[in-house]
Amino acid sequence: MASKLFSPITLRGLTLSDRIVVAPMCQYASEDGNAADWHLMNLGQYAMGAGGLVMTEATHVSPEGRITPRCLGLYSDDNEATLKRVVDFCKQWGTSHMAIQIAHAGRKGSNRPPLNGGGALPADEGAWETVGPSAAGFGDWPAPRALDDSGLARVKQEFVDATIRADRIGFDLAEMHGGHGYLLHQFVSPISNQRNDGYGGPLENRMRFPLEVFEACRAVWPDDKPMGIRFSASDWVEGGFNPEESVIYARALKQLGCDFVDVTSGGLDPRQKIDLRPGYQVHLAEKIRNEADIPVMAVGLIVEPEHAEEIVASGKADMVALARGMMDNPRWAWHAAQALGVEIKYPDQYARCAPNAWPGASQKKLALAAE
Ligand SMILES: Cc1cc2nc3c(=O)[nH]c(=O)nc-3n(C[C@H](O)[C@H](O)[C@H](O)COP(=O)(O)O)c2cc1C
Repeated sequence: MASKLFSPITLRGLTLSDRIVVAPMCQYASEDGNAADWHLMNLGQYAMGAGGLVMTEATHVSPEGRITPRCLGLYSDDNEATLKRVVDFCKQWGTSHMAIQIAHAGRKGSNRPPLNGGGALPADEGAWETVGPSAAGFGDWPAPRALDDSGLARVKQEFVDATIRADRIGFDLAEMHGGHGYLLHQFVSPISNQRNDGYGGPLENRMRFPLEVFEACRAVWPDDKPMGIRFSASDWVEGGFNPEESVIYARALKQLGCDFVDVTSGGLDPRQKIDLRPGYQVHLAEKIRNEADIPVMAVGLIVEPEHAEEIVASGKADMVALARGMMDNPRWAWHAAQALGVEIKYPDQYARCAPNAWPGASQKKLALAAE
């Protein structure tokens, strides 16, 4: 039977060769938000067909919106030039389409990179004041400054400016980061959003700022290029943002021209209780796909090719995204194709290791060759 995982999908003017996405993964390898040689190596390896779509790490719209001082940004001409070098490189040699995740950390900014121990950045290591919907911190981290009207307008413009830069760089698809407790998520969740103006209170108000940001970015992003959002469909905390609200949010985003939702969860509140198991977020993706009638990506502990195939073939999700599985094995898609009996095209330079050209590709073929 034909594989659904390895069937093409079209979003606006973009056709991806398969339903496999390399999920965004922070690298903490930047200075002043610039992409480095590390990004050539990291994204370059994935661009050789690790998935039909390769997404950058969270790429921040301002210095204050970064998670850590070592995060990638897209707020300066240098940021744009260094990231363009990476995307040009990936497109020249690779076979995957390239996507950007556009982000603002809000109250979860000003952190120490996990490689250096993580947690809130101390003052003597260059801590900065973060912003958020309300002056309520994440756990015991410092409280952010609540954004006033001019602050909201400024942050929205930063998202728009980064989107314009992302188009100039040549990204094929853009994803707004609305999950994992970062700024846009902080607005939709009633735990972090304690405002009593038009941006707080009922869901309609809590969604207002993320929707305004999405609409403004969509307006400057070319019509033929897809734009979607990653959001957390549950806070996994009593009284937090929940799957029912997620469906309403997804419907409102769809009205604004959102082409897909990349469905993740959690990250908003340290009290969260997540039942981690293979495909633990797939049911959330399926709910949003069915009830909001929008294409979805499923992500989270999807490791086995057969599992990924089942998720797509059974209509639970339109695409699957892998993070740790890709770091572990950037050739995941090649081996998944083999496991599922699908023939795919390798980059010309690597054609001689394709299963039909090299008996060592599987132990079975190796054994046969030895007979
Ligand atoms: C090293 C690392 C960095 C990550 N950075 C990001 C990020 O920049 N943006 C994001 O939305 N998720 C990020 N994530 C979450 C992943 O995209 C993914 O949702 C999560 O790891 C679950 O998928 P997995 O089980 O396939 O790893 C990161 C995960 C890892 C392991």
